[in-house]
Amino acid sequence: MVIERAPLEDELGDVLDKAIRGCGLEESAVAEQTGIPVERLRSVIDYCERLEPLELERLAKLLNLQSVGLNAVASEAYPLPEISGLPFCLYPLRMSHGIGVANAYFVADCSQDWGILFDTGTGAEGLWKSWPTKINRVAAVFLTHYETEHCGGLSAVRKRFRDVPVFGPDADDRPDGVIALNDGAVVNEKGFSVEVCSTPGHVESHHCYRVSAPQAPHGRSLLVAGDLLFAGSIGGAFHCCKRLHSSLHAVIDGAAPETVIAPGHGPLTTIENERKFNPFL
Ligand SMILES: [Fe+2]
Repeated sequence: MVIERAPLEDELGDVLDKAIRGCGLEESAVAEQTGIPVERLRSVIDYCERLEPLELERLAKLLNLQSVGLNAVASEAYPLPEISGLPFCLYPLRMSHGIGVANAYFVADCSQDWGILFDTGTGAEGLWKSWPTKINRVAAVFLTHYETEHCGGLSAVRKRFRDVPVFGPDADDRPDGVIALNDGAVVNEKGFSVEVCSTPGHVESHHCYRVSAPQAPHGRSLLVAGDLLFAGSIGGAFHCCKRLHSSLHAVIDGAAPETVIAPGHGPLTTIENERKFNPFL
């Protein structure tokens, strides 16, 4: 199946914002140590000015960002891999959200009209508009976290697919009836194996899911990443920057390079691609 490429979620300004403000650093200190005037730095973060290669280099060094990837983001030429070879069909459900796009995903045996839904998107309208035409049944729903743009369509899904089991992280804001899963839990549904990786940092309770098809042991697996990681960037550290980075490494370091990453925003990518280019890795 052909999967269209979505634009990157984050531009240079967002990447710097997450590396500086998101991790509690002072812009003035970063400006002083890189020799970039603070007004200019702020203006870059707000998308109004561009940086020179030498300035980017200094920022990359100070902020511990990978400079090849940072340059690629800055020049709007971030490399993205071809996505193929998954042993199942993957349907990205892309829904407008503010000035960007939020993604849910449907994973299905390509010959069947049912499968598993990951996140439920911004709401009923966006979800049904992007719904795969051949899918009529849902075996289970897995939620990465409980921000509205990722679980806004939950009640619509439950209304249409009565009694569908819904899984997600344990949290104070866990919607009624969502079954809490802990780190390392494995759920087997209709030929798919879904393993839970607890990945706090963007929010306190956040899951990524490793999806594989045990009947195709040599096929690539899929990492549904929510707001942990995007192509060329990471999620905002609204809960804790340090925990976000340790979650990132826990998930990325041991993963097979060919694993396909399905992020909550932006295009599909792979572990190999992000290890090579993601400014934060
Ligand atoms: Fe999000």
